[in-house]
Amino acid sequence: MKENDFKGKLPAHKLPGGVYKWKAPSNIALVKYWGKRPPQIPANPSISLTLDHCATRTELHYEPLESASEDCQFEIFLDGVANDSFRPKIATFLERIAPYLPFTRHYKYRIETSNSFPHSSGIASSASGMAALSLCFLSLERELFPEMDESYFLRKASFLSRLGSGSASRSTEGPLMQWGYHKEVAGSSDLYAIKYPFPIHEIFRNFHDTILLVDKGSKQVSSTVGHQLMHDHPFAENRFLQAERNLEKLQPVLADGDLERFIAIVESEALALHAMMMTSSPYFMLMKPNTLEILNKIWAYRQETRRPVCFTLDAGANVHLLYPDHIAGEVQQWIKSELADFCENGQYIHDRVGAGATSI
Ligand code: DP6
Repeated sequence: MKENDFKGKLPAHKLPGGVYKWKAPSNIALVKYWGKRPPQIPANPSISLTLDHCATRTELHYEPLESASEDCQFEIFLDGVANDSFRPKIATFLERIAPYLPFTRHYKYRIETSNSFPHSSGIASSASGMAALSLCFLSLERELFPEMDESYFLRKASFLSRLGSGSASRSTEGPLMQWGYHKEVAGSSDLYAIKYPFPIHEIFRNFHDTILLVDKGSKQVSSTVGHQLMHDHPFAENRFLQAERNLEKLQPVLADGDLERFIAIVESEALALHAMMMTSSPYFMLMKPNTLEILNKIWAYRQETRRPVCFTLDAGANVHLLYPDHIAGEVQQWIKSELADFCENGQYIHDRVGAGATSI
């Protein structure tokens, strides 16, 4: 689908007011998105596992206005308390989605949101948060235009989510999502994510992700700045090619459940992402000493026990430990006894692969 297919029209009638509620999960990329151009077009395609437990619940309360306002009118509450820290990001998002949902300025909104994970966990809530909010707005559009079909709804949900945060485009469905055009993947698009269209081995449908909370503070460098630094980056072109190739290499691996090759690709992607940060200008590093301690522990455990555990990282110090279901018991025991000490206040979150967002 093309951008124009998502353009919206003004309905003939107004709704009396009401509420939509969605819960959208976070996701963790296996092939990383790092680098973009306006409007939220990724420099390379990415693939992610949709999570289950780490999620944002959002309520969109809407009331009709007498006449359309110039700016979208909204207030935001986080856990029931008015919170303006997300205001600029949401205002930009509402600007961006206006051409696709022209009715938005004919209503005013109260956005109530809460995360299943602690605020200061270092886990980005933008993917789950923007996906949940997009789904609420799109539900409103569907109420105005009830003929909208389910597949269009899902495409547009991802399209709108992308305009809020790139990685949010991959939080609408599961278990595996691809966002970004790849010539070998029919139906792939830079505008929205699709459900991974190739066979997925059973082992990945029950995969676990334990998020080891190494540093719960806010990041020194935001993803937005990090993406920008890819523009004049000396290794950018090779990085984008590497991601495309890794995406291709994952296809047989995801189909046949070859964990050895899976681990090699996924860990390399995580380190390549952080290598980009360390070699940009200005350079920066988001890993902390305990991040490295944990990576070394994982490598040692894998060598000693031959258990197929591996890590990935997002743009922060936390470590995502990935492992299959059949070894979950022993791995979780090991996390408790060996890795918890490297986490801030000993904290970690057990999560697993999920199916995507749900209306609540
Ligand atoms: C490292 O989606 O947070 O997590 O589009 O500017 O909101 P914006 O960036 P964001 O970037 C996420 C980058 C990443 C890798 C990934 O999720 O693919």
